[in-house]
Amino acid sequence: MSKKLRLGVLASGNGSNLQAIIDRCREGELPAEVVLVLSNKSQAGALTRARKAGIATLVIDHRDHPERAAFDQAMVAALRNAEVDLVVLAGFMRILTPVFLEAFPQRIMNIHPALLPAFPGIKAQRKALEYGVKIAGCTVHFVDPGVDSGPIIIQAAVPVLDDDDETTLSRRILEQEHRIYPEAIQLYAEGRLHIEGRHVRISPPQKPPLLALLNPPTV
Ligand code: GRF
Repeated sequence: MSKKLRLGVLASGNGSNLQAIIDRCREGELPAEVVLVLSNKSQAGALTRARKAGIATLVIDHRDHPERAAFDQAMVAALRNAEVDLVVLAGFMRILTPVFLEAFPQRIMNIHPALLPAFPGIKAQRKALEYGVKIAGCTVHFVDPGVDSGPIIIQAAVPVLDDDDETTLSRRILEQEHRIYPEAIQLYAEGRLHIEGRHVRISPPQKPPLLALLNPPTV
């Protein structure tokens, strides 16, 4: 069997995306394993999930590193030490500096709860609701120096319902996050993702179903 891809997951919160990735690895479909979960928050639910799954964890508190670059350098050292092949940001609430990006060129993925380039940054679901969009969603992308601006790998769209609030919309989006993040990692692990400028090509090319999501539906 070929070598499994070694994943380092960075998470600051609940870690439901981490869980989806762990589960997919355990099912044996995904030729990858999470070898380290790193958090800047000692109370992050993601750490509890990792420990339960027998995965190594590490807390690096950004408050102990007033210089951003020093914080990033500490994380890079830990990830290198764990021989991580791909860095997976899963609800990691710190912006990475060039120190980090240059250590893992084209080897950092992120998930964002909006259809980028709409609503980058924090509180994306709330911004989508306030704007009045009819279709929201999520995006997995490679990380570049901008905020949620790197080449897009997969997106999933969900309808916004009239009675949605931030909680219900976030929940509907999160369900799709749990589908597309493991999928994107699997494509990477299989060597099927090729970055060409802003475009991520998938080999062999995938034919999307020619379905349109209309909201509201036409009568
Ligand atoms: C998700 O909505 C993700 O898109 C965003 O942060 C949230 C993390 O959720 N980047 P969880 O910690 O994976 O449950």
